[in-house]
Amino acid sequence: MNSLSIVILAAGQGKRMRSDLPKVLHTLAGRSLLSHVVTTARSLQPQQLVVVYGHGGEQVQQAFGTETDIQWAHQAEQLGTGHALQQALPFLPSDGTTLVLYGDVPLTSAATLQQLLATAGDQVGLLTDHLAQPQGYGRIVRDTAGQICAIVEEKDATPEQKTITEINTGILALPNRYLAGWLSRLSNSNAQGEYYLTDVIALAVADGVAVHGCVVPSSWQAAGVNSKLQLAELERIYQRQQANLLLEAGVQLADPNRFDLRGELRCGKDVFIDINVVIEGVVELGDGVTIGPNCVLRDVTIAAGTEVAAFSHLQQAQVGASCRLGPYARLRPGAELADQVHIGNFVEVKKSHIAQGSKVNHLSYIGDAVIGAGVNVGAGTITCNYDGVNKFTTRIADGAFIGSGTMLVAPVVVEENATIGAGSVISKTAPANALTVARSKAITLSNWKRPQKIKDVK
Ligand code: UD1
Ligand code: CA
Repeated sequence: MNSLSIVILAAGQGKRMRSDLPKVLHTLAGRSLLSHVVTTARSLQPQQLVVVYGHGGEQVQQAFGTETDIQWAHQAEQLGTGHALQQALPFLPSDGTTLVLYGDVPLTSAATLQQLLATAGDQVGLLTDHLAQPQGYGRIVRDTAGQICAIVEEKDATPEQKTITEINTGILALPNRYLAGWLSRLSNSNAQGEYYLTDVIALAVADGVAVHGCVVPSSWQAAGVNSKLQLAELERIYQRQQANLLLEAGVQLADPNRFDLRGELRCGKDVFIDINVVIEGVVELGDGVTIGPNCVLRDVTIAAGTEVAAFSHLQQAQVGASCRLGPYARLRPGAELADQVHIGNFVEVKKSHIAQGSKVNHLSYIGDAVIGAGVNVGAGTITCNYDGVNKFTTRIADGAFIGSGTMLVAPVVVEENATIGAGSVISKTAPANALTVARSKAITLSNWKRPQKIKDVK
């Protein structure tokens, strides 16, 4: 089999992003542009995967620090796309095919690239597009027989060539056995004083190697990101595609245009997701789960039949079946809810386990707690888990009832079926099956007079 190498050109500065962050590290759907390209490249199982980096190189390499299948080729000065590919040459075998991708073109599908490679065979393959407004792109020059014979850059094009609407996407497949020779023959005597990779097309034709064009199925697949505007446009295209896939898989989205998935979403049957929901990381929703409007879910698992009401924020949490959360619920990392748990409005749960059927319905903080089954936590209850230095655990056993406005000063235990009177400050064990009240006694002063308004003396 023809061995495949992939080179991703990513040394450009990206001035038009107006950012300190290297362009290819800007994110689309929560992942860097370069990581989209790398993922697609990997799916083609290349023998070599080379990234040509330059501007902000350390940062780019660091972002991929642990990914050892990538070889990094440094381009110290950005002297053009041809010069960039030259930096990758030492990593490439002397035969097989090299596929050139751009680090700022994130949405090319693997199928499109496979099609291009199949069309190229052991010759040259060029991914082209037809644009009504081709300004700024290299134009595909064809001979009278319709064969591709050259690419001419906009800045070097004659007025007649500028009317050509077939453009170079920049993505191409080249036979390695010619590569070193062609790259060494590039010159920079052109309008931009750069070594154009695009000039290899004319060199191939001169050497009798056929150049096969392959038209990209939709323009966004070859669209690059040069500005925040273009990034935002591609984000919407990508999000709409993901939404369409979910709809096809049977997930009901209230509005596919107001849905953002920045990661992976696995859904059971009859899942409903209302508008403006943001999903990040890996999220799993069981059968019949409903997510209300304006929720954020990051790395959470939610079992069947649970309802999450509007404006809830869930992160690194596990939620059982048939729970009710929100509106305005907050689950922080390590929140684990068993089945039929209710977490109401303005309740924050962190690193706590809450067993079956327990309820924390209003305005509470539950942190570092282990709560049994069938517990009712009254409004405004707080686990005081932190003494300013260390964190401590609150344990509440099955069937306990915590009155409203209780402070549970950890470490502390509330035993089975204990009842805590409202407004208590509990700092030692509340025994099972008994009422514990820890609040100051009310006093009444019957002779007390209300203060009088002091008269203005002029
Ligand atoms: C290039 C093509 C043009 C094509 C267009 C598609 C050339 C000469 N022209 O033009 O025909 O229509 O892409 O968008 O190839 N890069 C480097 N090192 C460099 C220069 C560029 O790594 O020295 C990288 C950039 O990071 C980018 C890619 O190569 O990912 C393309 O560079 P860019 O400057 O955008 O090329 P264009 O001039 O737009
Ligand atoms: Ca470009």
